[in-house]
Amino acid sequence: MKALILSGGKGTRLRPITHTGAKQLIPVGNKPILFYGVEAIRDAGITDVGIVVGDTEPEIRAALGDGSALGIKTTYIRQEAPLGLAHAVKVSRDFMRDDSFVMYLGDNLILDGITPLVREFERDRPNSQILLAHVPNPQDFGVAELDGSRVKRLTEKPKEPKSDLALVGVYMFDSNIFEAVNKIKPSFRNELEITDAIQWLIDHDKNVNCHIISGWWKDTGKLEDMLEANRMVLSRAKRLLRGTLDGTTRTEGEVIVGAGTTIENSILRGPLIVGERCVIKNSYIGPFTSIYDEVTIRNSEIEHSIVLERCVIQDIPVRIEASLIGKEVRIQRSQLKPTAYRFMVGDSSLVDVL
Ligand code: G1P
Repeated sequence: MKALILSGGKGTRLRPITHTGAKQLIPVGNKPILFYGVEAIRDAGITDVGIVVGDTEPEIRAALGDGSALGIKTTYIRQEAPLGLAHAVKVSRDFMRDDSFVMYLGDNLILDGITPLVREFERDRPNSQILLAHVPNPQDFGVAELDGSRVKRLTEKPKEPKSDLALVGVYMFDSNIFEAVNKIKPSFRNELEITDAIQWLIDHDKNVNCHIISGWWKDTGKLEDMLEANRMVLSRAKRLLRGTLDGTTRTEGEVIVGAGTTIENSILRGPLIVGERCVIKNSYIGPFTSIYDEVTIRNSEIEHSIVLERCVIQDIPVRIEASLIGKEVRIQRSQLKPTAYRFMVGDSSLVDVL
């Protein structure tokens, strides 16, 4: 079996972070979302992995390379425009040949991996196997209608969902999917939908099995989902202190501190992770916070947030929370006159002041 990881897309709901970076590379628990998918595929014993890329190809290539560091072999497949998930399958035809494959959306996170699901597909040999999960907002997903355990109908982003069962972004196919993606027409959002291609399989008497997953799953398209994913990953963190913590610093719970980081006179209340070569001074880092490498935090408090590399946060009088802070951002208190807020923020940023 092969795998196909989709890592194109514009990430419009995560702007401005995605103006300058691929959404699949935003880290949760200090590891890019994409890597969790790669590891799940590798752990299921699949090593031949096609990576569908778009405009962010250089960054995705820089992060994954030939895949050997993660135990896979990557083949990059260019999708010239984001014309839909079924279009991504179409452009992967040469790479797949007639093999069966797992398709994994690079912004999806399934905490418990996919190994038993791949085994089930290999054992039962349906033409496709889809994963479903109960969600409170089915209108934001592809939605399944079941008849007993049989999939009757799949609808992409229905206005009036017939169930609360969302299509999870991990699918398994045999080569019949290539006929399906060639037969369907673009949807209301002008994309070739994989949901419609699977419906085509159902309508043409192919076997489409479904599996309702009970473990934790998230499509990390929005800020809240990203923070929740970060919470879930950190809730499994195990204490590991590598940096230098002085005698006045207190750590509570599952705290991970990377090598080369120094922490002075601060409180770290886990679960949390601080990366490598950071400086934390006179500060409070609260639960569910991921601080990436080379970040400086002084005289400030932060919790339930993700901070990317080389940020500086200092002298902020109010606790920062529920925030996603991009690379090399400075958040500081100014002594300049006149006393005022002064911003230099990118397009589509969000600033909440008191
Ligand atoms: C895509 C699929 C949708 C599926 C979702 C899972 O949605 O079209 O059917 O439920 O992924 O993450 P999109 O992320 O393109 O809105």
